[in-house]
Amino acid sequence: FIRSLSSSAALHAAIKHVTIIGGGLMGAGIAQVAASTGHSVVLVDTSEDILKKSAKGIESSLKRVAKKKFAEKPEDGEAFIQKILKNISTSTDAASVVQGTDLVVEAIVENLKVKQDLFGALDKAAPEHTIFASNTSSLPIADIASSTARLDRFGGLHFFNPVPMMKLVEVIKAPGTSQQTFDSLLEFSKALGKHPVSCKDTPGFIVNRLLVPYMLEAVRLHERGHGSKEDIDVAMKLGAGYPMGPFELLDYVGLDTSKFIIDGWHEKDPDNPLFAPSPLLNKLVAEGKLGKKTGEGFYKHK
Ligand code: 3HC
Repeated sequence: FIRSLSSSAALHAAIKHVTIIGGGLMGAGIAQVAASTGHSVVLVDTSEDILKKSAKGIESSLKRVAKKKFAEKPEDGEAFIQKILKNISTSTDAASVVQGTDLVVEAIVENLKVKQDLFGALDKAAPEHTIFASNTSSLPIADIASSTARLDRFGGLHFFNPVPMMKLVEVIKAPGTSQQTFDSLLEFSKALGKHPVSCKDTPGFIVNRLLVPYMLEAVRLHERGHGSKEDIDVAMKLGAGYPMGPFELLDYVGLDTSKFIIDGWHEKDPDNPLFAPSPLLNKLVAEGKLGKKTGEGFYKHK
């Protein structure tokens, strides 16, 4: 009885140690927020160079947070930043660091096979109690989880850009996800200071299922010659209260990311006009104009 009690207590223990796989914008943002809320974080990527870039990004984002938080007392800002950075370490060896982790959050390239291979390998290295979560924006959680033997301890945690600012986390319950895992992921999201919503394992969950077709509709409206990009953006900001217009948001999210999502859905549901590809979006992506990150998308960026 004592043994089963202690193992079930361990299963219920709060998530303290988190491994984030992927040092891109999303992964770095998740690492930052987890570290800021007192979690011990290991950020993993394939090269030291990428990890250096992630650390730089985290530091500059923390500077922006500190500037706001310590506007009255800027000298306290530096200590605040250093305290958070102390909670983050980096590694290029996922299999060795997951041995001491409660939760793995994957935020790597949107490629099913690559994600499956990663989780398949980590499944063998991670302890029993470790929960696996993917931050995928458009792939089914169940498909990613299928390479592991821990379907019950596998779910989705979908964050939004910029992670330090956006309050929402979509928590996805795949058919195999246990209630206990789902509850732990909800709890973890709250511990990050975020507001979780419950999602089913359906394409785009809630936000992207609404946001991506909306952004594509804006591109189509513009392609038909029914409005300039600037006017459409202003219209949605001043007429609908959106913080960014659809073209600004496409540039912010990345045109390649948006194209990848819509192409995937179009392939599975070719008759749905909401998922139809856009010639203009395709052209910009082919030209390498991916948005803010490459300096040009629908707009030019500094
Ligand atoms: N880190 C820390 N602080 C930040 C930040 C970051 N990355 N970005 C913004 N801030 C804070 C800073 O305090 C900043 O002040 P500063 O410039 O003096 O440092 C302050 O916010 C204001 O920022 P901005 O002047 O740049 O502009 P805004 O007031 O418009 O706020 C925004 C920026 C929060 C990004 C806002 O424009 C917004 O909410 N945009 C919509 C974002 C959105 O829809 N995201 C979801 C995309 S979909 C997605 O991610 C899903 C994926 O699967 C595709």
